[in-house]
This record gives sequence, structure tokens and C-alpha cells, in this order.
Amino acid sequence: MLGHALADVFVEEDLVLGDLPDYDITNYDDLNLKIDQIKPEVIINAAAYTNVDGCETDKELCLSVNGLAMGNLAAAAKKQQAVLIHYSTDYVFDGDNKDGYAEDEPINPVNAYGVSKAKGEELIRQSGCNFYLIRTAWLYGKYGKNFVDTIIDLSVKQEEIKVVNDQFGNPTYAPDLAKATRQLMIDKKPFGVYHQTNANNCSWYDFALRIKEIKGFEAVITPVSSAEFPRPAKRPNYSILINTKLTPLRSWQEALVEYLKK
Ligand SMILES: NC(=O)c1ccc[n+]([C@@H]2O[C@H](COP(=O)([O-])OP(=O)(O)OC[C@H]3O[C@@H](n4cnc5c(N)ncnc54)[C@H](OP(=O)(O)O)[C@@H]3O)[C@@H](O)[C@H]2O)c1
Repeated sequence: MLGHALADVFVEEDLVLGDLPDYDITNYDDLNLKIDQIKPEVIINAAAYTNVDGCETDKELCLSVNGLAMGNLAAAAKKQQAVLIHYSTDYVFDGDNKDGYAEDEPINPVNAYGVSKAKGEELIRQSGCNFYLIRTAWLYGKYGKNFVDTIIDLSVKQEEIKVVNDQFGNPTYAPDLAKATRQLMIDKKPFGVYHQTNANNCSWYDFALRIKEIKGFEAVITPVSSAEFPRPAKRPNYSILINTKLTPLRSWQEALVEYLKK
């Protein structure tokens, strides 16, 4: 989802786009060879194992893709003196703090996906490469499976849609994040960790209600607690990302209108 959104935004740059099976970030030898040939100035990694529940059963694969591969990619970036841009997640935080988390707060993931993304962060920090590590949250956009499209699909099939109302976060429109990534580079911000999401936060229930309002469908959205909606992976309750370093993006409410009116 984000990879395609980035490709739409980085139109003035000389881009080499890579995806499976040709670019497998866990195939170190092959990837290093390709990076040696390309000699990039910047490496943007939007690849990840993002199935949060799947990570609980596929722990080894998720650690390999989200965690260990980052050590290799960061080493390759360092060797080429390239800047590494990588995305991490609100799920590296435990979500116990109702006020949310600034960039330098201690991380404490509560599920296998969060653990694997935290490992990726650690390996990038340790590598000594120049990096932008951008934590984001609750992504949606036209290129991938996402919450907004799921709610709309369910509204056609069901009269009632149950949505959890005790998990809070920042819905983020992938094209907004892609544009912000390009701006970060153009502005030559100091290397380091950034939080970038659409502004404001809400619960998944609030998010679904707003989707219903804009689309005007009939199905009823019913609030439920996480306990009533058990999933393989535990989710943080308040994984709100506080952005103290970058110009805030527009609100999630505004971005959602644009996505749904397109
Ligand atoms: N989606 C969210 O809500 C969210 C929230 C916070 C942070 N993020 C982070 O934002 C970034 C982008 O997420 P996204 O939602 O755009 O993810 P996405 O749509 O799931 O895309 C990730 C891509 O990586 C590919 N991939 C998996 N293993 C790979 C490997 N070994 N080598 C190369 N590519 C591989 C996947 O291919 P297959 O589909 O074939 O597996 C998929 O095309 C990720 O770092 C993610 O952790 C996402």
C-alpha cells in the first residue's frame, strides 16, 4: 500500500522500484548485489510483514522480514553511504498511556508484530547508517487491504458491523505519508526517529462511524470492547503517536473525505 503511494509521489526522482520476487529483503546476498549495482543515494523500505494476527503464528517469518532484514538493509545503506528511510509502527508501544507517545518514549511492544518491528528499529539504530525511521499508524489508501474498504464491504453484506471502541490511534492516509516522506528528504531534516500520521486520534469505532457518515450507508455500527472481539494478537489500547518534530499533517477526518470522495 505505502510502496505504491510512494511511487506515485516520487515522480521527479530517478527511482528503481523493487518488489517480490525480484527484491526479497530477506535474501541478503541477492539484495546486496542489486544495491551494489544500483548505487542508490536513498533506500526507501516499505516492505514488511504487516498481517498483525498472522505474525502470532508466523513469528519466525515476521521477525525475519520486519526485524533481521533491517540489519542487512542498514549495513548496505551504510556501505553505499545512502540514506535509509524505513517505516515503523505505533504497535512498538504498549498503549497504556492515554496521552500517547512522543518519538523518544521507551518502546514496549505487546504482540509479535510489534516485537519484530522493534527489532528492525534496533538494528537500524545500531548500524551507524544515516536513517529516517518514520513511525506511522492505521494506514489506508487505494493500493491495499485496509480498514476503510473493509467497513464499506461489510456494509453491503451485513446489517450490523461490530467495531471496537477501546483502541485509539491515528488513521493515516498513505498518500499523505508518502508526500510527507518526500518533504522530509527535501527539507534535509536531521536523521533520526519521526512520528508522522494524520492529525487527531480516534477509536476504530469513531473511525467507522465517520466512514458511515461520509458514505451514507444503512448498516448499523455497534461499539464493542476488545474483550468482546478476541483476536490472535493483543492490540495496544492507546497507541497514539505524538509528533513533536514535524509540521502536522491535515486531520484524519479531512484526509478520509478526500479518499472516499475520489
Ligand atoms: N498498514 C498499516 O496500518 C501500518 C501501520 C503502521 C506502520 N505500518 C508500516 O508501514 C509500512 C508499509 O505498510 P503497508 O501497509 O504499505 O504494507 P503492505 O501493504 O502489507 O505492503 C508490504 C509489502 O511488503 C511485501 N513483502 C513482504 N515480505 C517481503 C520480503 N521478504 N521482501 C520484499 N517485500 C516483502 C509484501 O508482499 P506480500 O503482500 O506479497 O506479502 C507487501 O507487498 C510497513 O513498514 C508497516 O510495518 C503500516
